[in-house]
Amino acid sequence: MTESNIFTQYMQKRNVIVKDKKILQSSYIPENLPHRMDKINEVVEIVAPSLNKDKPSNILIIGKTGTGKTAVMNYIGKELRKADPNQDNCAFIYVNCEVVDTPYGILYNMSNQIIEEPNMKIPFTGWSLDRIFSELTKYIDAHDKIYIIVLDEIDRSFQKNGDDIFYFLTTINEVLKYSKVSIIGITNNAKFTEFLSPKIKSRLGEEKIIFPPYNVVQLQDILYERAKFAFDEGVLEPDVVPYCAALSAQEMGDARKALDLLRISADIAERNGDKKVTSAHVRYAKNKIELDAVSEIIKTLTIQSKTVLLSVILNKEDDNEPMTTGDVFTKYKYICDIIGQSALTQRRVAGLISELDMLGIVHARVKSFGRAGRTKEIELSTPKEIVNMIKGDDAFIDFFAYKPPTQTTIC
Ligand SMILES: Nc1ncnc2c1ncn2[C@@H]1O[C@H](COP(=O)(O)OP(=O)(O)OP(=O)(O)O)[C@@H](O)[C@H]1O
Ligand SMILES: [Mg+2]
Repeated sequence: MTESNIFTQYMQKRNVIVKDKKILQSSYIPENLPHRMDKINEVVEIVAPSLNKDKPSNILIIGKTGTGKTAVMNYIGKELRKADPNQDNCAFIYVNCEVVDTPYGILYNMSNQIIEEPNMKIPFTGWSLDRIFSELTKYIDAHDKIYIIVLDEIDRSFQKNGDDIFYFLTTINEVLKYSKVSIIGITNNAKFTEFLSPKIKSRLGEEKIIFPPYNVVQLQDILYERAKFAFDEGVLEPDVVPYCAALSAQEMGDARKALDLLRISADIAERNGDKKVTSAHVRYAKNKIELDAVSEIIKTLTIQSKTVLLSVILNKEDDNEPMTTGDVFTKYKYICDIIGQSALTQRRVAGLISELDMLGIVHARVKSFGRAGRTKEIELSTPKEIVNMIKGDDAFIDFFAYKPPTQTTIC
């Protein structure tokens, strides 16, 4: 028997209700992709000639986040490998441009999937891009097959590196005699092609396939399909999947969000030692996800913005809500004095309030006072956890330790 340790209590309390956790991870590729058969067929129809060594058109896949673009392409890659196990006619190469984001990194990753012989692999560093281009071209043409290269998150590479790689990949066929290369670009930024040069734009987008967001019923089906393998029957209360689907459908029909919600709900139930997942766990999970998102934003704020936010918080604690920009500015200057920070002008502070408003941390409404002019009415719209986070920020230690001098009476 294992000796008891600091994890024992935790393991005993934890009641395992998720049979297979990896099924709920967003990196998991399911066998079945409900409501994407039409898109799968569209891609298959374009790509299928590669199995007879005919070059398919390039494709640009566009769709919002969580609409199944990556899942569909990985699924097609798996099926293509089944159809041509030794990759005699067609090789499927997948590169995520977000993970490898330098031109060298992308070419290194792509080339070394293409080049099989260990002694011909491209070194991790040290070659010029031109040298990689030329070696790769030679290698590809020596193999007489179709190379389908998927560039996922293609806009990320473009933002960071410009279009050199796309130029190389979309013009390589002009110098190839035997093999051919087809590109499948994936992006969630519909506007990305506007910035490409006309030649690359028209070549990359020979075929365009749009992935629409999922509606609530589709999200339910996706969740049920995953839940079937992840949970034993009866572990999910009947309203859990519809609730997760409804909450995620409101937020752009993102299947990743829906899966995250279900996974975190189940995790919370497990940690509580509960035997079933209920809609209460889902509600809790949703709050937790939102809170995590706001906390991430708060961490990236500058000290000046945090000071403005603390001023809003302190005004609210003085029951001064809704407050005006002037109220916030007065408190802001007071805090700056105490912590020894130079104060910005009221105009700049108003700008920072607008930024906090755009991030959803405060709520600012323009209010007109007739001839007296206009000002903003400001309300705090963050939960108490965020308030505590700001108040606990190291930047304000001196402020909270500060004791105003008591007035001495002179007789
Ligand atoms: N039709 C579907 N059936 C089952 N699972 C799906 C389906 N569509 C998406 N998913 C799942 O949802 C998650 C997100 O999907 P995916 O990663 O493919 O989105 P994406 O469109 O590539 O998003 P992004 O633009 O953010 O990269 C993954 O776990 C994926 O397996
Ligand atoms: Mg993706």
